[in-house]
Amino acid sequence: MNYENLLVQNEDGIVILTVNREKALNALNTQTMLELKHFFTEDAPKIEGLKGIIITGAGEKAFVAGADIKEFLQLDAEKGREMAARGHEVFFAIERFPKPVIAAVNGFALGGGCELAMACHLRIAGEKARFGQPEVNLGIIPGYGGTQRLVHYIGRTKAMELLMTADMIDAQQALDLGLVNHVVAAGEEVTKAKELLQKIAGKGPVAIQKVIECVNACFEDGVNGFDYEVKAFGETTATEDFKEGAAAFIKKRKPNFKGK
Ligand code: CAA
Repeated sequence: MNYENLLVQNEDGIVILTVNREKALNALNTQTMLELKHFFTEDAPKIEGLKGIIITGAGEKAFVAGADIKEFLQLDAEKGREMAARGHEVFFAIERFPKPVIAAVNGFALGGGCELAMACHLRIAGEKARFGQPEVNLGIIPGYGGTQRLVHYIGRTKAMELLMTADMIDAQQALDLGLVNHVVAAGEEVTKAKELLQKIAGKGPVAIQKVIECVNACFEDGVNGFDYEVKAFGETTATEDFKEGAAAFIKKRKPNFKGK
């Protein structure tokens, strides 16, 4: 697919996906959401030697400032429901992606932007990053998973406050609350994300995929995460990677995982 609003750079298996609508602070319009869905469901799974994906925003000001408010005027109950349901599909595709996806948050991550960052497996915040769910300022609520994932990450008490006050928090507060994994100097977000992906790329790829599945299972309706872990553990013990990992440990050498 030729993307209008996404830039895709593949650097030796680390793909940097940039939401590229700088003039609109990278707001997620319908086209961008379609492109994100296509990328994660069609294109990314076919990338040979993929180590992981880093999502960031174009320019220095914003990661993503939310869903595109300029498209909101045509919404009604039916279209609003459809918009939220489509958004959930896209963000679940990111959350369930079998390789690590890291948000490199370089500025405002508001509304759908905070929700996009939360759908990623890890989050790196630059010092200028700001997070918030300001939807109630507009008289709506978050529609791309914010009322759920924010609670999972920072707990009910603070999530309720941020969702009701629309307050923004800075990178350090996001770190203190457990919303982000690391805070780095402005401009260093992608570098730190690459460093993490390189480290993870040295581990067993099937094991990494199963970690993602099991952690997600913790929050999936109707799924018992412990049962899921039992099944997934069994599956990892049947891999060639496990035999290689154990043999390498015993022979005191580095493992050479094949992802099988
Ligand atoms: N949608 C569309 N355009 C947006 C936008 C958004 N979410 N956020 C910013 N822009 C546009 C502005 O309209 C402006 O465009 P023009 O130059 O054409 O006027 C441009 O980006 C620059 O923005 P500002 O002039 O407002 O920049 P600022 O520095 O004064 O303020 C800001 C920055 C605090 C991020 C402010 O832009 C802002 O509050 N943006 C909206 C944030 C928001 O409410 N996000 C939630 C959206 S709803 C949502 O996401 C629902 C959901 O869960 C699915």
